[in-house]
Amino acid sequence: MRIDFKGKIVDEPTIRIGHIGCGSHSFRNLFATYQFVPVELAATCDLDEAKAKFYARQFGAPAAYTDYRAMIEKEKLDAVVVCVNFDKRGRPLYPRIATECMNMGVNVFIEKPPAATAAEVELMMKASDETGKIVLCGLKRAFFQMTTKAKKLIDAPEFGEPMTLLLQREERIPTMAEMADYRAGNPNTPTIRFLDHFCHPASVMLYLFGMPQRMIYHRAAHGSGVATYEYDNGRVASMSFTHGGSGVAGGVERVTVIGTKYRTVVVENCRVICFQGPVSDPGVHESYGAKPSYFTGDIGTTTALWEPEFQLGQLYSKGVFLLGYYDELLEFARAIMEKRQPTRGTLEQCWQITHMFEQFNQGPSRMIELRTRP
Ligand SMILES: NC(=O)c1ccc[n+]([C@@H]2O[C@H](COP(=O)([O-])OP(=O)(O)OC[C@H]3O[C@@H](n4cnc5c(N)ncnc54)[C@H](O)[C@@H]3O)[C@@H](O)[C@H]2O)c1
Repeated sequence: MRIDFKGKIVDEPTIRIGHIGCGSHSFRNLFATYQFVPVELAATCDLDEAKAKFYARQFGAPAAYTDYRAMIEKEKLDAVVVCVNFDKRGRPLYPRIATECMNMGVNVFIEKPPAATAAEVELMMKASDETGKIVLCGLKRAFFQMTTKAKKLIDAPEFGEPMTLLLQREERIPTMAEMADYRAGNPNTPTIRFLDHFCHPASVMLYLFGMPQRMIYHRAAHGSGVATYEYDNGRVASMSFTHGGSGVAGGVERVTVIGTKYRTVVVENCRVICFQGPVSDPGVHESYGAKPSYFTGDIGTTTALWEPEFQLGQLYSKGVFLLGYYDELLEFARAIMEKRQPTRGTLEQCWQITHMFEQFNQGPSRMIELRTRP
């Protein structure tokens, strides 16, 4: 049930969920999204009983648990939403928890990063295949409304064939020694951070261009750098890791797609820009350099800009809509109700992202062949 725009109760089918992990991200974003998506919050769970009970009270769940197995056994759930931290070695807990939950008969939403190794993702794939339960990973940038719009624009015939993708993200590439330290089981913070955030540009790359076949990366001495991805179909994608730049002060992320025709699509914070033309005004033929006016072209023939409005407080200007949380949880609920696999945030994409993360182990300045899922 929910209250619609006109203030009326709407009774619609929901999935019954238990929420595992009552920490920071859950409070800021996931619980804030539940009111808009077709879920019934049956129970909360955290190792810390006080947090589980506080969340249950605050967000209207009838029960609170400290053990998710007990919660699944008791609550007749369709699904669990898992939003937990890393283990002592800095590795995501999702492969173990998701596999166990699927084997107990529930569908699973997991947060990012899904795993530390592609082999761990394969364990989730196996459990999903065996149980018929789905996993959707909150790869939120693949669900951003801006990314969805960009995908529509680049798939339009007017764009031509999308050929070049440039992704910018404030991030530091770990050194080889830091990567090795993490593999050895030490909670190496720079590597955990990279694992935690690499999925952001990678998920956009997979959604817009698919899985590349090769990569090479270069690392500046202080940790910024560039990774370039090649595709057998002739496409190229490049990720700029702008560590040392403006940090989280804004302007840290930008996605640019260039096609074979005359348009360029840029996604910048919550703006989507489609640069094109402009064509000359009718009867006027001015070449580059001889053009006395900048304001040529008409609606439809020149650059278009989409951005949300923040003045009227309408539903869709909330961050939970802009930042993918609404779309990822809605897709999770719909996939369960429609008995189908999710279209984004799939285990296949989790495998590809984790495989690409692991290839940074091979070191900079060399061409690295990427695999497909075995
Ligand atoms: N998509 C996003 O925008 C975004 C933003 C921030 C964090 N995250 C992700 O969300 C996840 C959680 O991050 P956070 O900052 O909320 O962490 P957090 O440490 O604040 O919260 C994690 C909670 O999980 C609980 N927990 C751990 N193991 C558990 C278990 N077995 N059973 C029940 N509860 C358990 C902990 O007690 C803790 O309360 C991480 O994967 C992180 O990468 C995503």
